[in-house]
Amino acid sequence: MSTVDRLRPLHDAMIEWRRDFHAHPETAYEEHRTSERIATLLAGWGIEVHRGLGGTGVIGSLCTGDGPSLGLRADMDALHIHEVAEVAHRSRTPGKMHACGHDGHCAMLLGAARHLAETRDFRGTVRFIFQPAEENEAGALRMIEDGLFDRFPVDSVYGLHNWPDAPEGVIGVRAGPVMASFDVFEAVVVGRGAHAAMPHLGIDPIHVAAQIVAAWQGVVARAVDPLESAVVSVTQFHAGDTWNVIPDRAMLRGTARAFRAEVRGDLEHRLRRLGEGICAAAGASLDWTYDRRYPATVNHARETEVARRVAADLLGAERVIAEMPPSMGSEDFAFMLQARPGCYLRLGTGNGGGNCLLHNAAYDFNDRVLPIGAAYWVALVESEMPA
Ligand code: NI
Repeated sequence: MSTVDRLRPLHDAMIEWRRDFHAHPETAYEEHRTSERIATLLAGWGIEVHRGLGGTGVIGSLCTGDGPSLGLRADMDALHIHEVAEVAHRSRTPGKMHACGHDGHCAMLLGAARHLAETRDFRGTVRFIFQPAEENEAGALRMIEDGLFDRFPVDSVYGLHNWPDAPEGVIGVRAGPVMASFDVFEAVVVGRGAHAAMPHLGIDPIHVAAQIVAAWQGVVARAVDPLESAVVSVTQFHAGDTWNVIPDRAMLRGTARAFRAEVRGDLEHRLRRLGEGICAAAGASLDWTYDRRYPATVNHARETEVARRVAADLLGAERVIAEMPPSMGSEDFAFMLQARPGCYLRLGTGNGGGNCLLHNAAYDFNDRVLPIGAAYWVALVESEMPA
């Protein structure tokens, strides 16, 4: 019997867990109900449970004897989005929803945990890691700072994300950078307000900020090696309150992303220098804040090959995209990959079944892939930790 078929008896249970999480979304560090349900389920299957790392984090340890140890990670948090889908399991919490499929990630890892706790056909220790706050708030880093890998050692760690862009049930994998670093900046241009009819009596911060926005786009086009990847997006431009007054300040906010640390550092340096230079030329000044959030997510070569081989054995080589295109999105699993060797891969959910893209108010995880994701975790454990 194939590993996917072995997981099919748990499909209904996984759907129930997934839709329960979906109906009760919780955002960063507030995953109390979600973590409670996960901990209760794990403990009920005889898995040793530890709670409290990173606030709401849950770790389940399943040991069958001396051998390697493997970390499998799912994220629990939802997003600040108001759900528009009219499904029976739609969010019961206005303004919050599982629009990134983390409900499905939890259900798949729970399915794998239940199966492995029953069959125990491996030798070593599996750590089921349920982390808080993947979206923006670095829950993975907080778990690591709370001693995740010191208290619950693993030889390697693996993560998985659903991917509606890829066909249903296809796994995408790639060595090296797969997700970009993620930084945010805020630039306040401080000029001097004036009557709109007499601009020469002030220093117009809107005019200055507009030049900065335009100049920043030249950083990626002219200062970054064309063979490297980087993106700078200004996503907020706030200034003024009325038609006939030049305000005294304008605020820009946005995000800068790259795959390589050198490029990341270069972006930070050049954005600031351009902003300050343009302000100085206009007689304005710049209040600058740059916040480094997530590093790039970089897969390790050996573990990527393991993940690729396990996926190909599970689904057939034709169902594995071995050179999955990377994304300029970001992922806090990056911190785990800085601490331990591992691999982060994508599981295609397709665009059928009313599915749309991640972080969309109409998004709903495709339940048909639940046995595939759970089977991937089981196959990975049984392959890497033979009994
Ligand atoms: Ni996500």
